Amino acid sequence: MSIQDEKKRWQEQTIAKVVAKNPERKPTFNTTSDIEVERLYVPEGEDSAYAEKLGFPGEYPFTRGVQPTMYRGRFWTMRQYAGFGTAKESNERYRYLLEQGQTGLSVAFDLPTQMGYDSDSAMADGEVGKVGVAIDSLADMEILFDQIPLDKVSTSMTINATAAVLLAMYIAVAEKQGYTSQQVMGTIQNDILKEYMARGTYIYPPRESMRIITDIFAFCKDQVPKWNTISISGYHIREAGSSAVQEVAFTLADGIAYVEAAVKAGLDVDDFAPRLAFFFNAHNNLLEEVAKFRAARRLWAKIMKERFGAKNPRSWMLRFHTQTAGCTLTAQQPDNNIMRVTIQALAAVLGGTQSLHTNSRDEALALPTEESVRIALRTQQVIAYESGAADSIDPLAGSYMVESLTDQIEEQASDYIRRIDDLGGAAEAISRGFQQKEIQDSAYAYQKAVETSDQVIVGVNRFTVKGVPPKDLLKVKPEVEIAQKKSLAALKAKRDNGAVEQKLAALKIAAQGSDNLMPFILDAVKVYASLGEISDTLRAVFGEHQETVVL
Ligand code: 3HC
Repeated sequence: MSIQDEKKRWQEQTIAKVVAKNPERKPTFNTTSDIEVERLYVPEGEDSAYAEKLGFPGEYPFTRGVQPTMYRGRFWTMRQYAGFGTAKESNERYRYLLEQGQTGLSVAFDLPTQMGYDSDSAMADGEVGKVGVAIDSLADMEILFDQIPLDKVSTSMTINATAAVLLAMYIAVAEKQGYTSQQVMGTIQNDILKEYMARGTYIYPPRESMRIITDIFAFCKDQVPKWNTISISGYHIREAGSSAVQEVAFTLADGIAYVEAAVKAGLDVDDFAPRLAFFFNAHNNLLEEVAKFRAARRLWAKIMKERFGAKNPRSWMLRFHTQTAGCTLTAQQPDNNIMRVTIQALAAVLGGTQSLHTNSRDEALALPTEESVRIALRTQQVIAYESGAADSIDPLAGSYMVESLTDQIEEQASDYIRRIDDLGGAAEAISRGFQQKEIQDSAYAYQKAVETSDQVIVGVNRFTVKGVPPKDLLKVKPEVEIAQKKSLAALKAKRDNGAVEQKLAALKIAAQGSDNLMPFILDAVKVYASLGEISDTLRAVFGEHQETVVL
């Protein structure tokens, strides 16, 4: 069958089904010269490689996109990562962003929340509300989502070691709003391996952390079916200095480790794989980044179908969120960052992302101001509504360069995955420092190129001006820490401390056994046990991870 005939079959079968339920944004998409833009462009004639390597959007191997109609049916979710200070301040920012047209929420938590410490812990001093919002208990989460309907908005939470606690709090807030856990939509990052490898917000040792993660998979399968249980992240691996190939390889190797752990815990791969999600970086090299996303989709589809025997096509789909590269933002001439973010965002769109965060121009200096974050969101809206980049699916397919890069990235990433398999898998390789060393070598090579100006950074090592830092930077006020400590003390004074003790004791017994921890954590958050108290209960049973130092 010729590719044109295949395309006809795809239109009549796959597309017809989808548009009946979800019509495309417009009846036809035309250029300014009134040339109708086709949904999908394919080559003429027969070409067996086409079906094997590219196929059709919404069909295996998904190289050209996970959804049959992609952005003609629905734009990617515009989901700005945000959060700082108290829950009240962050709630105001979320409602502002939703008013400005963003279509999904993304919560940034402060480090004490991410590391399992309450705001009144000595370990939290100086960090409360700084890099994200301070959440000590369900009371803070109720404020965080005040006037935000959790049956309508999907929320991503960038939380890893304490993901189970924040998910439980989110469910509890939804129930207080009158919804059930069956209705809530969103994602928890919940990717502990990359924390050991690159980001650092881990608490417990790997085995215990993997147990919590697979408990979340099992719990959400039945109780929270619309929830994406993990966002397997390459973003931070790239931010640590990896190459595009390493970003794909180390992220998918982590994905393999999570699937293996869940299967070992007795779950059927098709029971949880459809709700695995991914998170990638969008870096400066436009065409390599587009090829990277396409290679990652095809490689993951093959891994899930061939290595794990997944039967449900939704298990083969690599659905991902993208954040533009924070590490490329410069403090010098911050407005230049608007152009960098635009190119990076365009790469994510041409690469088929499902959700996108665009960085703000001032984030190399501080938290983004309201004006900067609005410009970042408008960048997405201009690409979506004005550039035409969303009107045809996978428009760069067939480009000799993009297809060659896609093949080479897939090939080199596969080689890395074989090396990691030979080392005993991602967790074992991390414990030996393999990925960390590879990342450090890439980071060193890149930094050297910048310092010798082989790699030009506009405004930094060329085209410089005597700059003055912008005046209106957003600083988190010191009063936040005082206010947060006071509200936590007030909560502890008025809650039923007997009930808290009883629920924490039950959680401890569960942690010592093999029961799924989620129901016990949910019970504890509902009586306002704090995040630190719950984390300490698990610390007492699991201990804490000691980092592998890589020289
Ligand atoms: N036709 C029909 N249906 C369509 C469609 C189309 N064209 N496009 C999408 N849909 C459907 C989808 O199927 C889905 O329905 P389903 O859930 O029933 O399948 C619904 O519309 C929503 O679409 P998506 O699931 O594609 O989009 P979401 O935005 O809801 O989810 C995700 C995207 C990647 C799967 C999800 O995991 C997500 O939102 N991730 C975000 C992660 C995130 O924001 N992380 C931030 C981290 S910040 C950080 O770590 C950096 C810091 O450390 C510095």
